[in-house]
Amino acid sequence: MEELQQILDQALQQFSAISDEAELEQVKARYLGKDGSLTGLLKGLGKLSAEERPAAGARINQVKQSIESALQQRRDALQQNKLSKKLAAESLDVTLPGRGMGTGGLHPVTRTLERIEQLFHSLGFATATGPEIERDFYNFTALNIPENHPARAMHDTFYIDHQHVLRTHTSPVQVRYMENHKPPLKIISSGRVYRVDSDATHSPMFHQVEGLWVDEEISFANLKGVVQDFLQRFFERDDLKVRFRPSFFPFTEPSAEMDMSWNGGWLEIGGCGMVHPNVLKHVNIDSEKYLGFAFGLGVERLAMLRYGVNDLRQFYESDLRFLKQFN
Ligand code: FA5
Repeated sequence: MEELQQILDQALQQFSAISDEAELEQVKARYLGKDGSLTGLLKGLGKLSAEERPAAGARINQVKQSIESALQQRRDALQQNKLSKKLAAESLDVTLPGRGMGTGGLHPVTRTLERIEQLFHSLGFATATGPEIERDFYNFTALNIPENHPARAMHDTFYIDHQHVLRTHTSPVQVRYMENHKPPLKIISSGRVYRVDSDATHSPMFHQVEGLWVDEEISFANLKGVVQDFLQRFFERDDLKVRFRPSFFPFTEPSAEMDMSWNGGWLEIGGCGMVHPNVLKHVNIDSEKYLGFAFGLGVERLAMLRYGVNDLRQFYESDLRFLKQFN
């Protein structure tokens, strides 16, 4: 009986010290297994006298039950503990900020183009378009730049074949439009143009906006008024000044380069002039009756000034850190 009490005390003490389920099952075998101490005592019952046997058997069974129930309690406690740990580790903090999908935005050059178009539309200009792969005829010849004329060297041209080029400016759209429409004409045309050119202010692909207004009483004064009005509204500055510097383009006469005041100096933003009579002749418009002005603006140049970007190539490096600033 004394040994039985010892076995029970020892078992309860060992179980409570165990924190691992597998270990618990191993320790269980020491008492209840085939060679376990309690099993041994049960086997030894046969050696006892018939009077002693029932009381001893009952006591051993009692101890066996106590050990089994202590074992079960410990198992439950260990499992509960394991579950709590798992729940704590897998818990979701629903108050954490979400992982957003990030929204896209328009490219700064696209934004600039849209703004330019909107401003000219409000001045009554319609939109015209032309192809980026252009016939040599429209890009040069019809603009009063015959073959072998030195003015062709003004543009470093990407040639596709003898008759086709990547257009070097948007001016060919003037010719295409005048071929199919009779004056009065008042259009802008924006899009990509290409030149063999690359540095901080020149890119091999860039955008221009072409303007054309042909009517009976159009003068250089109208050109100045339209360009100045546009630039003041584009930059939202009434004090912005525009300067017209004499220049040369084969398709306008007189011709000028347009500069705008900026940081105490002047910056070139495009070319312009009165449409040359030879260009009007090509498209059968009577140059005695009609006059027109045309201009071509560099869109990236305007975007750089508006957003304070000092290297044009940044627009085309697809660096999200740069582009996201315009969202
Ligand atoms: C022309 O392209 C003329 N077609 C403009 C014109 C139209 C004159 C109608 C008269 C009448 P120019 O080559 O100067 O002109 O180019 C116009 C503008 O495009 C320049 O002022 C500049 O702002 C921009 N530009 C020219 N080359 C590049 C380039 N490689 N990268 C970025 N912008 C450029």
